[in-house]
Amino acid sequence: MAGTPVTPVRLGVNVDHVATLRQARGEFDPDPLFAAQLARLAGADQIVLHVREDRRHANESDLRRLRDASSLPVNLEMALSPEMELMALSHRPERVTLVPEKRQERTTEGGLVLDKDFLGRLRPFVARCREAGIRVSLFMDPDPEMIARAEGTGVDQVEIHTGPYARAFGGPDEGKALNDLVSASERIHALGLLVAAGHGLTVFNLPSVLGLPRLSEVNIGHSIVARAVLLGMREAVGEVRRMLSPGAWGPLP
Ligand code: PXP
Repeated sequence: MAGTPVTPVRLGVNVDHVATLRQARGEFDPDPLFAAQLARLAGADQIVLHVREDRRHANESDLRRLRDASSLPVNLEMALSPEMELMALSHRPERVTLVPEKRQERTTEGGLVLDKDFLGRLRPFVARCREAGIRVSLFMDPDPEMIARAEGTGVDQVEIHTGPYARAFGGPDEGKALNDLVSASERIHALGLLVAAGHGLTVFNLPSVLGLPRLSEVNIGHSIVARAVLLGMREAVGEVRRMLSPGAWGPLP
């Protein structure tokens, strides 16, 4: 299954956890917009931001600044709620990815359940987004039967929740978890929709995911931010160390 995809896969970089670090101090640093600019220079195709109901990391001001200052398309992850719809329609990201949201969860725990109530709210929402030029994706578990319910809703993409595969990676259930992703991709493609994947992806488990049929996009957040902290540590300490060297600074005037 591991292999190089036939067509280039788009990379969405989720900068939520840069905002998490900022929120730890409640000040301005590090700025997710700055992270987004660096991600663009490194080859990201889009920036992903999850504005949660409790604003624990990214907020509306981040979204506004991203729309104003970043040249990359924005994929806004959000719950299907009137408040978030208003936000999406006023900032018009290129894409909205609908996710289920629970206040107590640390991160998005599962995919959407497309029950009657949700589908009833989804169709008019998608129509309003389309009018505003926003494409809609659904974050879903690798469950072909549930995915089949996305048919006719007007969305153009399903993002497969790769969390279960990421958790199984390296263990006895990895093969089954990967097969589930393959079946999900095939079902999404059969519906005429784009196939995206995200959650828990790392440089270690990504190669197998890149072998998924018709994969067009991956969205990665936590592991990129985590590696950025570690890979940047040496440089960050080094610049302070150099400042402390004798003679690095002249006498005060
Ligand atoms: N895709 C979706 C829909 C998500 O909710 C998340 C987490 O915000 C991601 C991708 C990125 O997941 P991770 O931070 O584990 O890379």
